[in-house]
Amino acid sequence: MENITKSFEGNKVLEELSFHVNEGEFVTIVGPSGSGKSTLFHLIGGLYTPDSGDIRMDGERMNGQRGAISYTPQSPSLLPWRTVLDNILLSGEINGEKYELEALRMIERAGLKGYEQAYPSELSGGMQQRVSFIRSLMSPQSLICLDEPFSSLDEFTRMEMQNWLLSIWEENKRSILMVTHHIEEALYLSDRIIVLSGKPAKIKKEFSIPFPRPRQESIILSDEFLQWKRNIYNELRGT
Ligand SMILES: Nc1ncnc2c1ncn2[C@@H]1O[C@H](COP(=O)(O)OP(=O)(O)O)[C@@H](O)[C@H]1O
Ligand SMILES: [Mg+2]
Repeated sequence: MENITKSFEGNKVLEELSFHVNEGEFVTIVGPSGSGKSTLFHLIGGLYTPDSGDIRMDGERMNGQRGAISYTPQSPSLLPWRTVLDNILLSGEINGEKYELEALRMIERAGLKGYEQAYPSELSGGMQQRVSFIRSLMSPQSLICLDEPFSSLDEFTRMEMQNWLLSIWEENKRSILMVTHHIEEALYLSDRIIVLSGKPAKIKKEFSIPFPRPRQESIILSDEFLQWKRNIYNELRGT
């Protein structure tokens, strides 16, 4: 993202925003509600075009271009007339036996075994989110964008899903850009955290997170983790 500015009817939401995601990197953007995080994804996904600035992938300009990334929206957007398995398989260019086996494996790992042929209306919000997630993880695009993917989950399920995501990501290092307002989640998962200011959103600070991989759940109780949490909290609060 190079100097991205975006307004809606004269209401400036993003201002001169620049950042990048390296290949195989897990980057998280944290910012207050209404700071333009979802707007950022709509820009990257080509649903909106920036007023100024450029969005590039592998050096190629992709302003307003759709289909280049895999995007999991804030609320799960499953097709109600398709089963869980078909929502995962029929979403992209993926089909065939190899993908079906992989999808079944991921469904099982996400704790959804037995729901392969269920319809979205038969699932809880958290379960739908997991399906939405698997669909993203299985998509062929090299950049996965996750918009507050765990926000509808209770604390326990959240931790489980984070561990699940980490184990899958650590296996095949896709590039991930996530947004969240949950600091601990950002710290636990990310290689780098970018802190946004309130509206119009600018980048306040970037942090490289040094915790070794594979990440151990026990780090979240360590003093170092708490210190990081404090740093980022203070940055968000502007102190
Ligand atoms: N399509 C749109 N038309 C007008 N205003 C919009 C549109 N999309 C987002 N906004 C405004 O942009 C601001 C940021 O929204 P959003 O990106 O959803 O924030 P976040 O995801 O950080 O909570 C909000 O004030 C919202 O009202
Ligand atoms: Mg949002």
